[in-house]
Amino acid sequence: MAKHVVVTMPGDGIGKVVLPESLRVLKAVGFEADYVPAEIGWDCWINQGNALPEKTVELLAKHRLGLFGAITSKPKAAADAELKPELKGKGLSYFSPIVGMRQRFNLDICIRPCRSFPGNPLNYVRKKVEGGFEEPVVDSVIFRQNTEGLYAGVEYTDPPAEVRAALGKHPKFKAFEKVEGKDMALAVRVITRQATRRILEAGFRHAQAHGYRSVTVCEKPNVLRETSGVYEEEAKKIQKEFPGVALKSDNIDALMMWLTKKPEDYGVVVASNLFGDIVSDAFAGLVGGLGFACSGNIGKDVAVFEPTHGSAPKYEKLDPPIINPIAMILSAAMLLEHVGEQPRAKRVRDAVAAVVAEGKVRTYDMLRISGGPDVFKKGAASTTQMTDAILAKLG
Ligand code: NAI
Ligand code: MG
Repeated sequence: MAKHVVVTMPGDGIGKVVLPESLRVLKAVGFEADYVPAEIGWDCWINQGNALPEKTVELLAKHRLGLFGAITSKPKAAADAELKPELKGKGLSYFSPIVGMRQRFNLDICIRPCRSFPGNPLNYVRKKVEGGFEEPVVDSVIFRQNTEGLYAGVEYTDPPAEVRAALGKHPKFKAFEKVEGKDMALAVRVITRQATRRILEAGFRHAQAHGYRSVTVCEKPNVLRETSGVYEEEAKKIQKEFPGVALKSDNIDALMMWLTKKPEDYGVVVASNLFGDIVSDAFAGLVGGLGFACSGNIGKDVAVFEPTHGSAPKYEKLDPPIINPIAMILSAAMLLEHVGEQPRAKRVRDAVAAVVAEGKVRTYDMLRISGGPDVFKKGAASTTQMTDAILAKLG
């Protein structure tokens, strides 16, 4: 009997293209697992009024391990308009199924490694003072709190009277008292001490286990005094349990500047939900962008691995497909690591590194050209050619 069961959720757009590529790699590396497909995404919303069907939730609850491609999210008006006629007017409202999945299973720890592969033409390069250029090695892991903060979903347009009344008790709300409800939208940044501790502890544990010298907390406590303040306070306490790991603290805005100057100064970075989302995309940009950005969403019971990129719908139907499968394949490597298959995870990453270093097979993004059916004429490899090259290096 196979050892693991993986719930596979390709989702929408290029999610349907890249997920099968990662399964080819998992199989080639000899990972013993059964794969159970599950629905998620826009078609589920249109036809069932729920982008995260209960059946999918049940499968994840049962098997506790998921591999996810990407979904399409559209703004409120478009979501309402595309809902199938018999579901309209029933008070259904679209909510991102990946955000929903993270909240439903409390997948509160999001890990996004951003490491440069030598030979990647997209790597960050910097001008040296004495002339010439250098390519510092970027090796950072972003720990993003995944379930609360500004993404908790506590939002209103035209907030109800009792919400306004409660806010009216806050001295800072005076400035907005006269704004009419229809002209006001509101989001609540919910930060709990428990979740903050969990993400910080995960960051520190990772730093200690993998030899990173520092954990940088990326918040904005000088302005968001209460909510970012919790991160600051808890980080100082937790650091005492990890004497070998230094605690640094950068404001999000300053960090966005510093990472373009000295990215090698950063090891593990911990941030709340929105800031973690922003900063992880920025780090990903230094190491090749969305084609290379992998992630894991990890809770106490369930873990789901996914590329950071979205569904890039304009590329879904291209045949042969052009998009880079590496982000998805590296996400599968994270899954291997999560279930204790470190040697297999390393084999996958080494194979990716070898293909990138060799530089013979490069998808269009690696050539820094715009996507489209003509990329092959310009020397780009297809999605499947990239996976084939990685499979060949697995040996
Ligand atoms: P996106 O990540 O889908 O695509 C942005 C651009 O990045 C693409 O046009 C493409 O040029 C490039 N790109 C993305 N992945 C690539 C890959 N593997 N290889 C090469 N190039 C790649 O983001 P966008 O366009 O903002 O959103 C499209 C849809 O995806 C939206 O509906 C959005 O809501 C959704 N989305 C879903 C996410 C998820 O499922 N976790 C995350 C981000 C966006
Ligand atoms: Mg993002």
